[in-house]
Amino acid sequence: MTRQRLLPILLLTAGSLTQLSAIGAEEGTVPYPDGYRHGTFLHSSLVASDFGPFKERPCVKPCTAGIFHFYANDKAMKGLRTGSYPDGAIITEELLELMGDTGREGERHMVGVMVKNSRRYAATGGWGYGTYDSGSRKNNLDVKAQDACYQCHLRRKDHGFVFTDYVER
Ligand code: HEC
Repeated sequence: MTRQRLLPILLLTAGSLTQLSAIGAEEGTVPYPDGYRHGTFLHSSLVASDFGPFKERPCVKPCTAGIFHFYANDKAMKGLRTGSYPDGAIITEELLELMGDTGREGERHMVGVMVKNSRRYAATGGWGYGTYDSGSRKNNLDVKAQDACYQCHLRRKDHGFVFTDYVER
């Protein structure tokens, strides 16, 4: 939390202060999206092994061709339908290895997430960004790395910073 934003808080009562400093300590942290597969399935994207970062050497994770599946929780569904995302909206992408010989899903390599909290993530358009290695609940992204995600998602400012266009069927 920046000093400027902290100042008005200092005027509040001691009780609220304890609560607010707990939020401050969590700023920049982005929770793992528990049970994301219970959300609405949005779409998938197939990413070839020669796509952008995938072909860099030394290899940048996930180092393989992959299938991305995208899921949204109920609050994110509201946003996808209206263009305005309430706090608590979560969109998750999971990257699975593509098995070249069968075309099937292989191992899960990574989970990526956008979590909406207008106050906590104000510096990055109200979205916190996270990536988690498979099996880990620890966000790989520090505040600077999250800003790099945001810089590209800025292109979709008019769509709430989200690239996915939901198609009802
Ligand atoms: C160079 C541009 C770019 C960068 C950098 C980027 N993204 Fe994205 N992101 C995209 C695009 C394009 C899509 C849509 C992909 C698709 O539909 O297959 C997307 C989709 C997503 C989605 C699904 C919601 C949506 O917007 O459709 C999540 C979650 C996500 N990105 C997280 C991240 C995270 C976390 C980072 C940082 C590690 C990141 N992105 C960095 C371009 C980017």
